[in-house]
Amino acid sequence: MNEVAILIQVLFHVTGQYGFGLKQGTFNASKNMASWDVTSDMTSAFICRFGFFFVVKEVSLLDQDRLDWYGKIFKSHILGCSCVMISSPEVAKIVLVTQSHLFKPTYPISKEMLIGPQAVFFHQGPYHSHLKKLIQSSFLPSAIKGSVHKIEGIVLNLLHIWEHTHIVNTLDEMKKYSYEVAMISIFGKKLEADEMDGLKHLYHCIEKGYNSMPLDLPGTPFKKAMKARKLLNERLRKMIEKRRETRDYGGGLLGVLLGLKDKDQLSDSQITDNIIGVIFAAHDTTASVITWLFKYLHDHPHLLDAVKMEQDVIKCRRLETNRGITWDDTRHMPVTTRVLQETLRIASILSFTFREAVEDVEIEGYLIPRGWKVLPLFRTIHYSSDFFPDPDNFDPSRFEVAPRANTFMPFGNGAHSCPGSELAKLEMLILLHHLTTSFRQIYSLHITIRLFLFYCICI
Ligand code: HEM
Repeated sequence: MNEVAILIQVLFHVTGQYGFGLKQGTFNASKNMASWDVTSDMTSAFICRFGFFFVVKEVSLLDQDRLDWYGKIFKSHILGCSCVMISSPEVAKIVLVTQSHLFKPTYPISKEMLIGPQAVFFHQGPYHSHLKKLIQSSFLPSAIKGSVHKIEGIVLNLLHIWEHTHIVNTLDEMKKYSYEVAMISIFGKKLEADEMDGLKHLYHCIEKGYNSMPLDLPGTPFKKAMKARKLLNERLRKMIEKRRETRDYGGGLLGVLLGLKDKDQLSDSQITDNIIGVIFAAHDTTASVITWLFKYLHDHPHLLDAVKMEQDVIKCRRLETNRGITWDDTRHMPVTTRVLQETLRIASILSFTFREAVEDVEIEGYLIPRGWKVLPLFRTIHYSSDFFPDPDNFDPSRFEVAPRANTFMPFGNGAHSCPGSELAKLEMLILLHHLTTSFRQIYSLHITIRLFLFYCICI
């Protein structure tokens, strides 16, 4: 462990508080929560709203021994910030679904500044529901069906480039892919090449600053990202102005947001914040899941064979009728779909989410004081042997039977659940179809772990 990590741990131990009853009297006397200081388990750091480090372990926030010891709901302190960790599906459902109005989303202020404070993630109540309905309507199966052909075009273009490339960095390529798909889903019509490149450049500057220290000092990635954010805003505003003037809204999410009438209308900044927010939500998430998908297929050749067999049948049907892949084809891929579901479970790329109690809330006999953070731990639930036997084993066949309600939440649950889940799955299925049926050497995929999440596919 390096010195910085030690320093962070020391800081945590100084500020962290142990034992029961930090706030005497705030807990039900008969049911105190066990307390665990997360400080001993951290590998990565974020700056949280209060300006101190917030650190979580990437791989597994809670192992089974700790769960047995602390229980499925317990309190913890992350650099003095009081948190309730939840790995019970029933309690997570209360927080995210049935009592979601009592738990507001909470993000570091730096994230709000970079994405835009009016983006859907940061809100609850009527503004959130209004926006959520609009975003959801743009990504429902009925809305994205028409994009299958365009997404297929992006895949074929990528694969064509790969044919002439010796080494492909999967994560980088998948970021390009998910970015392009996000752009067509958001802007509808294809953007001019220079418009597209300009947006891409600015977006990448913001992305670089997103997980950096939010230091507003000259030369820092955060400062550069804030500058790029302003420029991106300006470009999007001009695009909005042009589309409003010509009344050519262009389809996609932007078309939906621009087409609103009267009291439903959104301001330019509400639109830009949400456009940028959706690009962020759609981009890295999908790219990471696809990268893991390739890794698991590589590690399990018999599953790769099974997927390939299923896709070959679809390819034959396509060739007989001389057509590209269709929405219906993607609805008839049971083996591939189960591989995808198992990847979503085992990779659990969004390990948990944050909420904050807006008032004192009692759940199952525990009193959660107002202002405390509440963390439903998706990954811990996905790795519970109570719901997923032999959880470390990559076994798509477990999805032959539907998982118990509220135990499988790769796209969250309730009011803030992911509106892009169908699009993400569609992207993955179309890519897998063409990849497994057109690359003969897929069996000889050689994956090298370069850094934590970087895989090279050498074909
Ligand atoms: C495999 C890829 C993806 C995964 C694993 C994923 C996962 C999630 C999760 C877990 C949440 C809930 C967060 C919370 O409760 O705090 C969420 C929210 C969200 N996702 Fe996704 N997502 C993916 C792809 C996408 C795509 C393609 C889009 C684009 C449409 C998208 C747009 C959003 C938005 C806008 C929200 C916020 C919803 C709200 O606050 O009401 N996501 N996503």
